[in-house]
Amino acid sequence: MKTIEVKKIIKALNASDGAGVKLKRSIGTPEADYIDPFLMLDEFGSENKDDYIAGFPPHPHRGIETVTYILNGEFEHQDSTGAKGIMASGDVQWMKTGRGIIHSEMPAMKEGKLLGFQLWINMPAKYKKNKPEYLYIKGDELGAHKDNDKTVKVIAGKYENAEGPEKNHNVEPIYFHVVLNEGKEFSCDATEGHNSFIYLLKGELKIGVKDHDKTADSNLILLEKGSKLSVKANKKSEFLFIAGKPIGEPIARGGPFVMNTKKEILEAIQDYNKGTFAKY
Ligand code: FE2
Repeated sequence: MKTIEVKKIIKALNASDGAGVKLKRSIGTPEADYIDPFLMLDEFGSENKDDYIAGFPPHPHRGIETVTYILNGEFEHQDSTGAKGIMASGDVQWMKTGRGIIHSEMPAMKEGKLLGFQLWINMPAKYKKNKPEYLYIKGDELGAHKDNDKTVKVIAGKYENAEGPEKNHNVEPIYFHVVLNEGKEFSCDATEGHNSFIYLLKGELKIGVKDHDKTADSNLILLEKGSKLSVKANKKSEFLFIAGKPIGEPIARGGPFVMNTKKEILEAIQDYNKGTFAKY
């Protein structure tokens, strides 16, 4: 068993996307461009409605999966497969865009807070031309574990008896949302050779057995490879633990499209301009 240690601690960058939604981007940045298979991680939301209310009006995607997890507020989704739904606090939307999807993601016109995460997972070449799939997971359908020290919501993977709904996935993802009380420990198994990271929402963690710099809120903590994650909360902490099997293929990025070559990015742009993009 090799204990997972900290590789690098990165402060999330302030960015803006969609129609001017303020967000904190931590993967898909110069410091963490691609943590194979993870292409992007955004934290979006604010207590100020003006920071997010314009939302993400209709836009295309190709070649990726987006996993959206809403912790606070409501988010309305509509896409070219005909899927439509309002995500509430605790819900997850797992979208496999395959060859092409056009969707909008709009905060519901409500007062109050919005807080959520969107993770982009790369698709291997053999799945990038698949028909799109959309999975809506209600918060109470996620795996959940609770004891005196912690709560663990399981969006993907398995923790104790709690299991996420997305199974037999090619990157074997782990996606846990953990709240850990002060002074308590959390540990879980991981697959050696997979890439993993922690995104710390609140608190301060000691990770692994070696000394490392202090962690703090809104930090991306890239982890070394290993087979056991062991974490202690210096203060009450809330974090995401995400891991997956690297795909190991070259990538070409073109905004909402992620393919293997520049030529395929140009094809995606042409398909979108011709109106043949989301025809299946
Ligand atoms: Fe999108």
